[in-house]
Amino acid sequence: MRRAKITVVGAGNVGATTAHWCAAAELGDIVLLDIPDLVGAAQGKSLDLFQASPIVGFDARITGTSDYKDTADSDVVVITAGIARKPGMSRDDLLSTNAKIVGSVAEQVKRTSPQAVVIVVSNPLDAMVQRAFEVTGFAPQRVVGQAGVLDTARYRAFLAMELNVSVEDVSAMLMGGHGDTMVPIPSCTSVGGIPVTQLIDPKRLEEIVTRTRNGGAEIVGLLKTGSAYYAPAAATTQMVEAIVRDKKRLIPCAAYCQKEYGVGGYYVGVPVVLGSGGVERIIELKLSAEEQANFKKSVDAVKELVAAMAKLTG
Ligand code: NAI
Ligand code: 2OP
Repeated sequence: MRRAKITVVGAGNVGATTAHWCAAAELGDIVLLDIPDLVGAAQGKSLDLFQASPIVGFDARITGTSDYKDTADSDVVVITAGIARKPGMSRDDLLSTNAKIVGSVAEQVKRTSPQAVVIVVSNPLDAMVQRAFEVTGFAPQRVVGQAGVLDTARYRAFLAMELNVSVEDVSAMLMGGHGDTMVPIPSCTSVGGIPVTQLIDPKRLEEIVTRTRNGGAEIVGLLKTGSAYYAPAAATTQMVEAIVRDKKRLIPCAAYCQKEYGVGGYYVGVPVVLGSGGVERIIELKLSAEEQANFKKSVDAVKELVAAMAKLTG
């Protein structure tokens, strides 16, 4: 049986860590691509990772390159190319630089892997995934953004810390854009099947939500030289796995919503079923009036970002 071919564009922190976890989980053969100036880093990290395989015990070929020919006919392409946040920068500060980078990467992906499912990670996420969708011209189901799995994982981790329980027992859902306006859905948050509202009082829950919203900035403030990558890469790997193993995971992803939730043609974080076809279904939840209002605020922020990007990219 042919192994899946997974290309990761951008061999930096998120890209290399995603390659690491995809290889360790034997999700397929991996091509790690970076710009010519950094091709040595992509090749070095690939060879180093491959040399770990006899110890860890995984079968996966890992290749470093700067040539899109080596990525041809990938099943999944993960785009992590771009610049990352430094202290004091918001994700939106990355807009202009990363719109150009993601646009040029998407051109190449369209040409070399026309059947791929594309997972965008570069920030500001909701605008970058829209950019990749527009430039590739792929069906919207085959272009998806990673944000919700990470944001939900942060929320679940904080809830598990608060209650001193296993993270495995915490189940949650966050919607909206990958930013300060993300929307927690308390009716979809439970611990061992018990609604979270029976375990944590509203004031404390709000504090945990606020910490989740600032989760990326908290890590930037600690690292000082860049942004988070272990959890983002783990989140991306879960999405790659859902696609290459056709797992049909029900997880939050940035998906193209037209009629869904009345969004009108933008990428925004919603619960989806992710399988070999990419976004196979968008789940429309019944939101409370407050959740609906918060979701609208978040969608409006995404629309503003996309409008700002349109001005920059013409
Ligand atoms: P990094 O700086 O470690 O790596 C980025 C890599 O992209 C560099 O190696 C750089 O050379 C490469 N690159 C730049 N232009 C390129 C091009 N045209 N083609 C190929 N490669 C190119 O940054 P890191 O930490 O890996 O973050 C990557 C991106 O992911 C950032 O935009 C960051 O904000 C975003 N991010 C998004 C998250 C999410 O949840 N959606 C979470 C974490 C990071
Ligand atoms: C994060 O949330 C930087 O978006 C990235 O960590």
